[in-house]
Amino acid sequence: MLDSFFLPAEQGVHELDDLETVRKSFDWKQAEHQFSWHETGKINAAYEAIDRHTEKGSADKVALYYSDLSRDESYTFGEMKKLSNKAANVLKQKADVRKGDRVFIFMPRSPELYILFLGVIKAGAIVGPLFEAFMEGAVRDRLEDSEAKVLCTTPELLKRVPYQLLPHLKHIVLVGDGINEDEYFIDYKKAMDQADNDFLIEWMDREDGLILHYTSGSTGKPKGVLHVHEAMVQHAQTGRWVLDLKKDDVYWCTADPGWVTGTSYGVFAPWLNGVTNIVRGGRFSPSDWYQTIEKYGVTVWYSAPTAFRMLMSAGKVLAEKHNFSSLRHVLSVGEPLNPEVIRWGWQVFKKRIHDTWWMTETGAHMICNYPSMKIKAGSMGKPVPGITAAIVDDSGIELPPNTMGNLAIKKGWPSMMRAIWNNKEKYDSYFTSNGWYVSGDSAYMDEDGYFWFQGRVDDVIMTSGERIGPFEVESKLVEHPAVSEAGVIGIPDPIRGEIIKAFISLREGFEASEKLKEEIYHFVKNGLAAHAAPRKIDFKDKLPKTRSGKIMRRVLKAWELGLPTGDLSTLED
Ligand code: WT7
Repeated sequence: MLDSFFLPAEQGVHELDDLETVRKSFDWKQAEHQFSWHETGKINAAYEAIDRHTEKGSADKVALYYSDLSRDESYTFGEMKKLSNKAANVLKQKADVRKGDRVFIFMPRSPELYILFLGVIKAGAIVGPLFEAFMEGAVRDRLEDSEAKVLCTTPELLKRVPYQLLPHLKHIVLVGDGINEDEYFIDYKKAMDQADNDFLIEWMDREDGLILHYTSGSTGKPKGVLHVHEAMVQHAQTGRWVLDLKKDDVYWCTADPGWVTGTSYGVFAPWLNGVTNIVRGGRFSPSDWYQTIEKYGVTVWYSAPTAFRMLMSAGKVLAEKHNFSSLRHVLSVGEPLNPEVIRWGWQVFKKRIHDTWWMTETGAHMICNYPSMKIKAGSMGKPVPGITAAIVDDSGIELPPNTMGNLAIKKGWPSMMRAIWNNKEKYDSYFTSNGWYVSGDSAYMDEDGYFWFQGRVDDVIMTSGERIGPFEVESKLVEHPAVSEAGVIGIPDPIRGEIIKAFISLREGFEASEKLKEEIYHFVKNGLAAHAAPRKIDFKDKLPKTRSGKIMRRVLKAWELGLPTGDLSTLED
């Protein structure tokens, strides 16, 4: 078992919604009353996120603080309304965007990215955000599969867009300087200057497409996960329950909008709740991140274990130079949150780090540590109200507590994906015949209803007949003072079936050696179990990770077995 510990709810810090009581009578219909469309039936997520607040007296409130090494700007809700109207006009009039078209955005984080994102939605099109680090093959796969009609990008990134090979792509909007406009290329700045401040929003049906996020599966090319406008109900509600957003919060989600966390919780949840949102451009650096929290007085901070571990490796001395007293609530997503990281967060930020579990396909929070609950370090928490989760076997039969199996969610929540683009068969393969969405994660639920992540279904290691979740081993490994990050896989062994191999990146100041391997082996053996200790260890400068921070064990496996690594388009760098 994991070395878990308890942290009580922070009474007095939060106005606590007792979600255990809420759970008993809640259904998602109740959460719709906050929206204008509850009465009209007309729906547009960009209207609800921005325009609605300007009509309710918040036109002058800051919606977005943006900064990077060369820019430092702020935009009110009123300004965002006007600018996204202009962007929608540009898209509709100059790029001929129509309801249901796919419009992709391939740009580094910048105010223009967010303005275009909202503009696409106001125009009734489906927005497809692409992470800026994608190379040509990854960009082409996505634009081809979705038959994107318009792309918004920068002259710099245009070099990675093979537009001559994309017959469906009718226009490219370029955000930058010195652009030669023609029929095909639209100069964003020039067009924005000429565009009207008013725009007649395209009113949508709640089941109309909103956003397309491409994500990698265990096989084949990346797949397009489609979410609809109705998803906003859950983005808004979990923004309050889980992120604990209140109207005066200053919120920072560190995820890029190329990934689902950066849209569901980097755009929709904060703005649907009318909250001031921070976007920091540029690359990760520990001191830059600490300064960002200080500079804006961030109150709610949503990040990922991988980032927390990098901050941890940067050391306590750096952390102690900064003042984190503004922080009220800290959250994590994307991969298992090791108890060691929670312990560190408690020391450095004086806050509990709240783990949240969900995925691109679920669109929003599913299983979480929300503010009113006791945290069991190492557990993902409990389902939020309106979500029924269970551990099921391969045919969808529920398993009893403390039994490992497939983590599954009862079908039918607002932010659930509605399609895999052009691939009904793939979509259907997620669901059992009795209505469970099967996540592909293995987990168990304890007797108190807390869920414990074990690994992706295909990552579980069998050694000498014992089941080992790689996460347990990785969690233990990162507690060793020399270990910064660790990825664990099973490798074939003639006697034991599989044995455990660990790939490890070391913290500053530690040298790879046989002696250190020995020491780490014994550290796990003594701390966890002999059969869980890595008999083989490789030290690496960097581990292969997805942008959302998951160590890609299948890449480690491919390295190990000398096999091709497959699709790497969601790899971090
Ligand atoms: C997979 C989904 C939506 C957030 C970004 C990742 C893993 C996610 C946790 C967590 C352990 C987690 C799961 C899941 N994952 N959150 N709290 N603890 N694992 O989205 O790229 O669609 O990946 O990330 O394996 O299936 P994603």
